Amino acid sequence: MKSLIAYYSRRGENYVGGDIVNLPVGNTEVAAGILQKLTGGDTFRIDTVKAYPGDYHATTEVAQQELRENARPELVSHCADLRDYQPWHVVRADLLRRMGRTSEALEGYHLALRLTQNRAERRFLERRLEALATR
Ligand SMILES: Cc1cc2nc3c(=O)[nH]c(=O)nc-3n(C[C@H](O)[C@H](O)[C@H](O)COP(=O)(O)O)c2cc1C
Repeated sequence: MKSLIAYYSRRGENYVGGDIVNLPVGNTEVAAGILQKLTGGDTFRIDTVKAYPGDYHATTEVAQQELRENARPELVSHCADLRDYQPWHVVRADLLRRMGRTSEALEGYHLALRLTQNRAERRFLERRLEALATR
């Protein structure tokens, strides 16, 4: 199964263990790199159109303002088609099942099953399909 590691990470001035440290690569970006090596998944860097200040404290001011305004900063780009990734189909099928849209849910679980290599997930999806089909 192809996995997607979408991450948001701040480079440069960061708060690390009580000090402000200049990080050439953000903490979460390092973690995303490790996950990529372990899983072979695709990575996607989430980034805002408007850059945050380089100064850490100035960034926290901006962030607090954004929180107050319930801001939704514009992103540079969005992920590739999420339909390439199995979890998208599982979540969609599950929501359709809960809404009572059974035939669409069945179709979604079938699509998810096609993208699944993991045995435990396969069994889970097969059970879901059985339960839906016998409704
Ligand atoms: C604009 C902005 C606002 C943030 N607000 C918070 C916050 O309110 N609380 C918090 O714990 N971390 C906050 N962070 C830190 C993020 O949680 C952190 O950047 C993210 O988890 C990625 O980790 P990394 O930047 O260390 O790689 C903020 C970061 C940015 C850039």
